[in-house]
Amino acid sequence: MSGNSPCRIGVLVSGNGTNLQAIIDRIEAGEISAEITCVISNKADAYALIRASRHGIPVVVHENAGFAERRSYDAETVEILRSHKVNLVILAGFMRILTDVMVNAFPHAIMNIHPALLPSFPGLHAQQQALDYGVRYSGCTVHFVDCGTDTGPIILQSVVPVEQDDTEETLSARIQKAEHQTFAAAIKLFVEGKIKVSGRKVLISE
Ligand code: GRF
Repeated sequence: MSGNSPCRIGVLVSGNGTNLQAIIDRIEAGEISAEITCVISNKADAYALIRASRHGIPVVVHENAGFAERRSYDAETVEILRSHKVNLVILAGFMRILTDVMVNAFPHAIMNIHPALLPSFPGLHAQQQALDYGVRYSGCTVHFVDCGTDTGPIILQSVVPVEQDDTEETLSARIQKAEHQTFAAAIKLFVEGKIKVSGRKVLISE
Protein backbone atom coordinates (compact mmCIF):
# COMPACT_ATOMS: atom_id res chain seq x y z
CA MET A 1 0.00 0.00 0.00
CA SER A 2 1.49 3.32 -0.98
CA GLY A 3 1.00 6.07 -3.53
CA ASN A 4 -1.53 8.86 -3.50
CA SER A 5 -4.75 7.22 -2.35
CA PRO A 6 -4.99 6.95 1.44
CA CYS A 7 -5.27 3.49 2.96
CA ARG A 8 -8.84 2.56 3.83
CA ILE A 9 -9.00 0.29 6.84
CA GLY A 10 -11.82 -2.02 7.91
CA VAL A 11 -11.61 -3.26 11.51
CA LEU A 12 -13.28 -6.48 12.69
CA VAL A 13 -14.00 -6.73 16.41
CA SER A 14 -15.86 -8.86 18.94
CA GLY A 15 -15.22 -7.17 22.27
CA ASN A 16 -13.70 -4.30 24.22
CA GLY A 17 -11.74 -2.68 21.39
CA THR A 18 -8.68 -1.27 23.18
CA ASN A 19 -6.59 -2.08 20.11
CA LEU A 20 -9.17 -0.36 17.91
CA GLN A 21 -8.96 2.66 20.23
CA ALA A 22 -5.16 2.76 19.98
CA ILE A 23 -5.36 2.72 16.17
CA ILE A 24 -8.04 5.45 16.11
CA ASP A 25 -5.91 7.61 18.43
CA ARG A 26 -2.81 7.28 16.26
CA ILE A 27 -4.74 8.09 13.09
CA GLU A 28 -6.28 11.14 14.76
CA ALA A 29 -2.83 12.21 16.00
CA GLY A 30 -1.59 12.11 12.40
CA GLU A 31 0.89 9.28 13.11
CA ILE A 32 -0.80 6.87 10.69
CA SER A 33 -1.99 8.27 7.40
CA ALA A 34 -5.14 6.21 6.90
CA GLU A 35 -8.88 6.23 7.39
CA ILE A 36 -10.99 3.62 9.20
CA THR A 37 -13.99 3.34 6.88
CA CYS A 38 -15.93 0.74 8.88
CA VAL A 39 -15.89 -1.26 12.09
CA ILE A 40 -17.68 -4.60 11.84
CA SER A 41 -18.64 -6.64 14.90
CA ASN A 42 -20.05 -10.14 15.14
CA LYS A 43 -21.37 -9.20 18.61
CA ALA A 44 -24.10 -6.59 18.96
CA ASP A 45 -22.94 -5.63 22.47
CA ALA A 46 -19.23 -5.20 21.70
CA TYR A 47 -17.94 -2.11 23.47
CA ALA A 48 -15.70 -1.52 20.42
CA LEU A 49 -18.83 -0.36 18.55
CA ILE A 50 -19.34 2.46 21.07
CA ARG A 51 -15.70 3.49 20.73
CA ALA A 52 -16.04 3.65 16.92
CA SER A 53 -19.31 5.60 17.03
CA ARG A 54 -17.79 8.18 19.38
CA HIS A 55 -15.27 8.94 16.65
CA GLY A 56 -17.86 9.07 13.86
CA ILE A 57 -16.74 5.80 12.29
CA PRO A 58 -19.49 3.79 10.53
CA VAL A 59 -20.30 0.57 12.39
CA VAL A 60 -21.90 -2.64 11.16
CA VAL A 61 -23.24 -5.41 13.40
CA HIS A 62 -22.85 -8.63 11.44
CA GLU A 63 -23.82 -11.46 13.74
CA ASN A 64 -22.75 -14.97 12.86
CA ALA A 65 -25.50 -16.82 14.75
CA GLY A 66 -27.78 -17.27 11.72
CA PHE A 67 -25.09 -18.73 9.46
CA ALA A 68 -24.77 -22.49 9.19
CA GLU A 69 -21.67 -22.07 7.01
CA ARG A 70 -18.61 -20.07 8.02
CA ARG A 71 -17.84 -19.44 4.34
CA SER A 72 -21.17 -17.75 3.65
CA TYR A 73 -20.73 -15.54 6.72
CA ASP A 74 -17.29 -14.56 5.41
CA ALA A 75 -18.70 -13.90 1.91
CA GLU A 76 -21.07 -11.33 3.39
CA THR A 77 -18.24 -9.80 5.42
CA VAL A 78 -16.24 -9.41 2.20
CA GLU A 79 -19.20 -7.63 0.60
CA ILE A 80 -19.47 -5.23 3.53
CA LEU A 81 -15.73 -4.51 3.44
CA ARG A 82 -15.81 -3.97 -0.34
CA SER A 83 -18.79 -1.63 -0.04
CA HIS A 84 -16.60 0.50 2.25
CA LYS A 85 -13.72 0.25 -0.25
CA VAL A 86 -11.39 -1.29 2.31
CA ASN A 87 -7.84 -2.22 1.30
CA LEU A 88 -6.50 -3.27 4.71
CA VAL A 89 -8.45 -5.46 7.14
CA ILE A 90 -7.51 -5.42 10.83
CA LEU A 91 -8.64 -8.15 13.21
CA ALA A 92 -8.68 -6.39 16.57
CA GLY A 93 -9.97 -8.99 18.98
CA PHE A 94 -12.19 -10.65 16.36
CA MET A 95 -12.90 -14.05 17.86
CA ARG A 96 -13.39 -16.09 14.69
CA ILE A 97 -11.11 -18.06 12.39
CA LEU A 98 -11.36 -16.79 8.80
CA THR A 99 -12.10 -19.08 5.88
CA ASP A 100 -10.43 -19.00 2.46
CA VAL A 101 -13.26 -16.73 1.27
CA MET A 102 -11.98 -13.84 3.39
CA VAL A 103 -8.29 -14.72 3.16
CA ASN A 104 -8.34 -14.89 -0.66
CA ALA A 105 -10.37 -11.68 -0.99
CA PHE A 106 -7.63 -9.64 0.75
CA PRO A 107 -4.31 -11.37 0.02
CA HIS A 108 -1.60 -10.25 2.47
CA ALA A 109 -3.89 -7.45 3.55
CA ILE A 110 -5.47 -8.92 6.70
CA MET A 111 -3.59 -8.44 9.97
CA ASN A 112 -4.22 -10.02 13.35
CA ILE A 113 -2.71 -9.45 16.78
CA HIS A 114 -2.05 -12.42 19.03
CA PRO A 115 -1.13 -12.13 22.74
CA ALA A 116 1.95 -14.41 22.64
CA LEU A 117 5.21 -14.82 20.76
CA LEU A 118 4.10 -17.07 17.91
CA PRO A 119 4.56 -19.85 17.01
CA SER A 120 4.36 -20.46 20.77
CA PHE A 121 0.92 -20.56 22.33
CA PRO A 122 -1.50 -20.10 19.41
CA GLY A 123 -5.26 -20.19 19.91
CA LEU A 124 -7.28 -19.23 22.96
CA HIS A 125 -5.91 -18.29 26.41
CA ALA A 126 -2.41 -17.65 25.07
CA GLN A 127 -1.43 -15.77 28.25
CA GLN A 128 -2.51 -18.68 30.49
CA GLN A 129 -0.70 -21.12 28.18
CA ALA A 130 2.48 -19.06 28.63
CA LEU A 131 2.07 -19.01 32.43
CA ASP A 132 1.39 -22.76 32.57
CA TYR A 133 4.49 -23.46 30.49
CA GLY A 134 6.65 -21.31 32.75
CA VAL A 135 8.27 -19.08 30.12
CA ARG A 136 10.25 -16.04 31.35
CA TYR A 137 9.19 -13.88 28.41
CA SER A 138 6.04 -13.65 26.36
CA GLY A 139 4.65 -10.81 24.28
CA CYS A 140 2.56 -10.18 21.21
CA THR A 141 2.71 -10.90 17.51
CA VAL A 142 1.21 -9.04 14.59
CA HIS A 143 0.88 -11.34 11.59
CA PHE A 144 -0.84 -11.60 8.25
CA VAL A 145 -3.81 -13.93 8.38
CA ASP A 146 -3.98 -17.21 6.53
CA CYS A 147 -6.52 -20.01 6.96
CA GLY A 148 -4.78 -21.50 10.00
CA THR A 149 -5.04 -20.51 13.64
CA ASP A 150 -2.41 -17.79 14.19
CA THR A 151 -0.12 -19.28 11.54
CA GLY A 152 0.37 -16.50 8.97
CA PRO A 153 3.62 -14.61 8.16
CA ILE A 154 4.89 -12.59 11.14
CA ILE A 155 5.15 -8.81 10.70
CA LEU A 156 6.27 -7.57 14.14
CA GLN A 157 6.69 -8.96 17.64
CA SER A 158 7.25 -7.34 21.03
CA VAL A 159 8.62 -9.08 24.10
CA VAL A 160 7.37 -8.57 27.66
CA PRO A 161 8.72 -10.22 30.82
CA VAL A 162 6.68 -12.75 32.76
CA GLU A 163 6.84 -12.15 36.53
CA GLN A 164 6.74 -15.01 39.02
CA ASP A 165 3.55 -13.78 40.64
CA ASP A 166 1.73 -13.02 37.38
CA THR A 167 -1.87 -14.07 36.92
CA GLU A 168 -3.59 -14.31 33.55
CA GLU A 169 -4.96 -10.80 34.24
CA THR A 170 -1.67 -9.12 35.13
CA LEU A 171 0.22 -10.70 32.24
CA SER A 172 -2.62 -9.84 29.82
CA ALA A 173 -2.53 -6.20 30.93
CA ARG A 174 1.25 -5.99 30.38
CA ILE A 175 0.94 -7.62 26.95
CA GLN A 176 -1.94 -5.35 25.95
CA LYS A 177 0.20 -2.24 26.43
CA ALA A 178 2.70 -3.76 23.99
CA GLU A 179 -0.11 -4.75 21.62
CA HIS A 180 -1.27 -1.19 21.22
CA GLN A 181 2.22 0.00 20.19
CA THR A 182 3.04 -2.98 18.03
CA PHE A 183 -0.24 -3.09 16.09
CA ALA A 184 0.00 0.61 15.30
CA ALA A 185 3.61 0.22 14.18
CA ALA A 186 2.72 -2.65 11.83
CA ILE A 187 -0.22 -0.76 10.34
CA LYS A 188 1.99 2.29 9.80
CA LEU A 189 4.54 0.14 7.92
CA PHE A 190 1.79 -1.29 5.72
CA VAL A 191 0.23 2.10 5.03
CA GLU A 192 3.63 3.50 4.06
CA GLY A 193 4.23 0.65 1.61
CA LYS A 194 7.20 -0.71 3.55
CA ILE A 195 6.07 -4.35 3.78
CA LYS A 196 6.70 -7.12 1.27
CA VAL A 197 5.85 -10.77 1.76
CA SER A 198 8.19 -13.45 0.46
CA GLY A 199 6.85 -16.91 1.25
CA ARG A 200 6.63 -17.12 5.05
CA LYS A 201 8.83 -14.09 5.53
CA VAL A 202 7.80 -10.47 5.82
CA LEU A 203 10.44 -8.06 4.54
CA ILE A 204 10.41 -4.54 5.95
CA SER A 205 12.15 -1.65 4.22
CA GLU A 206 13.06 1.30 6.43
C1 GRF B 1 -6.19 -8.80 22.49
O1 GRF B 1 -5.60 -9.28 23.64
C2 GRF B 1 -5.66 -9.50 21.28
O2 GRF B 1 -4.37 -9.98 21.46
C3 GRF B 1 -6.60 -10.64 21.08
O3 GRF B 1 -7.85 -10.15 21.49
C4 GRF B 1 -7.68 -9.12 22.44
C5 GRF B 1 -8.51 -7.95 22.00
O4 GRF B 1 -8.53 -6.92 22.95
N1 GRF B 1 -6.57 -11.07 19.69
P1 GRF B 1 -9.25 -5.55 22.61
O5 GRF B 1 -10.67 -5.88 22.19
O6 GRF B 1 -8.49 -4.89 21.50
O7 GRF B 1 -9.19 -4.77 23.88
